[in-house]
Amino acid sequence: MKISVIGAGNVGSLTAMRLAQANAGDIVLVDVAKGLALGKSLDLEDARWILGLDYNIKGTEDIGEIKGSDIVVITAGLARRPGMTREDLLLKNSQILKEVSLSIKSLCPEAIVIVVTNPLDLMTYFVLKVTGFDKRRVLGMGVSLDAARFANIIASEFSVSVKEIEAMVIGSHGEAMLPLPGQTKIKGLTLSEFADKDKIELIVNKTVKRGAEIVAALGTGSAFFAPSAAIAEIVDAIVKGEGKVIGACAYLDGEYGIKDICIGVPCRLGRNGIEEIVELNLSSEEASRFKDSADSIRQLLKGLLCMI
Ligand SMILES: NC(=O)c1ccc[n+]([C@@H]2O[C@H](COP(=O)([O-])OP(=O)(O)OC[C@H]3O[C@@H](n4cnc5c(N)ncnc54)[C@H](O)[C@@H]3O)[C@@H](O)[C@H]2O)c1
Repeated sequence: MKISVIGAGNVGSLTAMRLAQANAGDIVLVDVAKGLALGKSLDLEDARWILGLDYNIKGTEDIGEIKGSDIVVITAGLARRPGMTREDLLLKNSQILKEVSLSIKSLCPEAIVIVVTNPLDLMTYFVLKVTGFDKRRVLGMGVSLDAARFANIIASEFSVSVKEIEAMVIGSHGEAMLPLPGQTKIKGLTLSEFADKDKIELIVNKTVKRGAEIVAALGTGSAFFAPSAAIAEIVDAIVKGEGKVIGACAYLDGEYGIKDICIGVPCRLGRNGIEEIVELNLSSEEASRFKDSADSIRQLLKGLLCMI
């Protein structure tokens, strides 16, 4: 298995480390910044003897090295900086991802592509359209990270082990995300049964704001430990092909009554990418909020398509 990670910044380099240590395949790390991917890959290689692991990792500025990859993870792009509007970020990252997507299309036409660059739902749609790949082979990492944050906050609030929590978040990877208390379980009970309305509201609000809380604390850049763990989980599910269900940003073609956008939903993942989009039994309130989340993506998508 050949796995390429494009972008050797915080998220990309940690992802490369996790994938190499998990023995997921041969790793290629690419970045346009001179020497960055090479330096990081040499450093990662030096850890092999200490860890007793014989993984292969190659760092380069040459995107041509991704040729023939089975899986490509895209982390290239900017995170929002002070003074930058959402439109500026959209324009910059879509320019970067256009170039990257065309390279993937010509160099590894059979690859499964995992998009990480923000704004996630729009960038996943954009990569799908530019590559022209089958909708099952382009997915985005977003709601599984949101679910991890939801689970972590629940664990802290109730002093229980994260292992006793099954968390579910769907919708856009942003303010309009939808943590689902009725589909989230603690020791077998749903969060709705486990906690009162005020407590649930507090936990949901903390989950929605978690990314911004981390950005504010860091002062520069955004999260990378949990994001890289979430990417590695998706890659592992694809490589092992055991049909694990993980939340991911996927192209909807009528599922949940929604068409022609990419949004976070539970997906059965396997060797072909998205094997199945799992349709949850949503309450009428959840279904209407999911539709609002989809509408917010559709609005932004219109803006993106006007800009490019
Ligand atoms: N989906 C999620 O849940 C999630 C989580 C965290 C971060 N992100 C997003 O992931 C992206 C990367 O985050 P980061 O913290 O690693 O940022 P970073 O700034 O540390 O790294 C980005 C890297 O991309 C490289 N790059 C730019 N253009 C490139 C190109 N054409 N080819 C190859 N490399 C290129 C840059 O040189 C830089 O090293 C951002 O858009 C961020 O918002 C998404």
